[in-house]
Amino acid sequence: MDITPFIDLKKQLAALGPALEEAVLAVVRSTQYIGGPAVGELEKALAAYAGVKAAVACANGTDALTLPLLAKGLKPGDAVFCPSFTFVATAEVVALRGATPIFVDIDPVTFNLSPDDLEVKIKNVLSHSPLTPVGVIPVDLFGLPADFTPINRIAKAHGLWVLEDAAQGFGGEYQGQKAGSLAWVGATSFFPAKPLGCYGDGGAVLTNDLELAEVLKSLRGHGAGASRYEHVRIGVNSRLDTLQAAILLKKLAVLPQELLARQKVSQTYSRLLEGRVVTPKIPDGYFSAWAQYTIRVKASQRDQLKTFLQSQGVPTNIYYPLGLHAQPAFLALGGDFVGAKAACPETEKASQEVLSLPMHPYLDEETISQISALIIKGLDLGA
Ligand SMILES: Cc1ncc(COP(=O)(O)O)c(C=O)c1O
Repeated sequence: MDITPFIDLKKQLAALGPALEEAVLAVVRSTQYIGGPAVGELEKALAAYAGVKAAVACANGTDALTLPLLAKGLKPGDAVFCPSFTFVATAEVVALRGATPIFVDIDPVTFNLSPDDLEVKIKNVLSHSPLTPVGVIPVDLFGLPADFTPINRIAKAHGLWVLEDAAQGFGGEYQGQKAGSLAWVGATSFFPAKPLGCYGDGGAVLTNDLELAEVLKSLRGHGAGASRYEHVRIGVNSRLDTLQAAILLKKLAVLPQELLARQKVSQTYSRLLEGRVVTPKIPDGYFSAWAQYTIRVKASQRDQLKTFLQSQGVPTNIYYPLGLHAQPAFLALGGDFVGAKAACPETEKASQEVLSLPMHPYLDEETISQISALIIKGLDLGA
């Protein structure tokens, strides 16, 4: 029996109370399951929360990344820069369009895309390949926004667009601005385990470009034009269910207090673990949504510690055991920018050392103390 689930959605459901179940029942009774009023209401609320002019809800976070790429007409021969240390969707969406993901290494402190390595990789592509650099997809990993000031500056200097992968970052902040609003366009996910999660799949695109928002709405609905059965572009089916929108509206209302609770959990972990493991560092001017609380331990101890914690009822996860530049799917694409040639040493080091601990807003101090004591015991046993 685990001390706590890795993410405790049961406690959240109990805290949300009957209002959430009533909202679900109201949609069921309305029989309007697709495109009901809750979807438009949610889009307005998400845009207001993130401080952007428009939000376009869609079926999942992967589609939220794909829709802007469709709008841009991403094609074979195009190169898109993304971190290697991320969930596969960030680069998969690029490869699915026939374009080439170019893997960029991370800053070892924040785990996010290194602006210095971005410059190096852009120069490599320009001088050693026939590919055309077109865009960058920085990721707000573990809830911490990427370093957008230098990234946007470098991108601008090379004429590249920037798509923020805020799947894990929604609720985070960078220099006073909300995640999802930090570039030309932002994509987020409402997968249940995310800081703002629904009860199935869901996602949204956030942007200040109102023309783009109209194109994205058309693309998510089979490329519809002014009327439903006029199709002006090739699109996809990527609607967000009305039920998910109704759930998200209730959850968005409690997100600010949940973010503060996550903040407290992270502070408690850091206080108890500092000095024994490498705890996450949040640079000045950043606010993390704490999608994950991820420590680093010696590579020689990590897997043993994970096994020990599992035996003591503490679930942990390794995000991510392999950089994307070394994943079979991307190695199979071949070329000069995968495997050892990708040159992502910090990603390789991180993937050997990271361990994500249970993290959710309902984790109490006593449980955090228990988990932390077990981590220290596990390290002492393995030392
Ligand atoms: C960084 C990142 N990008 C994209 C996605 C894709 O989101 P979804 O699972 O909603 O398609 C995820 C979700 O896990 C993610 O963590």
